[in-house]
Amino acid sequence: MGSDGSSFNFVVLKKEKIMTNRTFTMIKPDAFASGHTGSILKHIEASGYKIIAMKLTKLSAEKAGEFYAVHKERPFYGELVEFMSSGPIVAAILEKENAVEDFRKLIGATNPANAEEGTIRKLYAKSVGENAVHGSDSDENAQIEGNFYFSSFERI
Ligand code: CMP
Repeated sequence: MGSDGSSFNFVVLKKEKIMTNRTFTMIKPDAFASGHTGSILKHIEASGYKIIAMKLTKLSAEKAGEFYAVHKERPFYGELVEFMSSGPIVAAILEKENAVEDFRKLIGATNPANAEEGTIRKLYAKSVGENAVHGSDSDENAQIEGNFYFSSFERI
């Protein structure tokens, strides 16, 4: 109760590292068009990830640009937006302990030429641009990217 009789609440916000044990992925237009969706999902599930949300969709250029806005100043931005809006993709939220870091190991280097044997990009990606899958690079971005695609009603 305040001195004037009004009630109030204090909320103390402390900046903490968000640990969600969740990551976000997209199976990109190249892998979808080549019929690798099933194999990639099997690979992901066999690696211990539980699917929390999933949808098949196609991004408009505007939405692809929004998703990858962080790369806006990069020389490949236009190419990236064009490619990501060129065909269907599968978006998913995945759960496992240490989800973000382990998923980045599972998919391999951004450029498949540098990806380790057995990684998803080594197996299915064509080039640095058409690299089969996306994986979030931090817990914070996993949350932002998951929220970009899924409402609370579309995830378990
Ligand atoms: P992704 O993990 O989805 O995040 C950003 C994407 O930009 C990356 O995968 C690549 O597909 C793309 N990208 C990164 N570097 C290049 C590049 N040099 N040329 C084209 N696309 C790139």
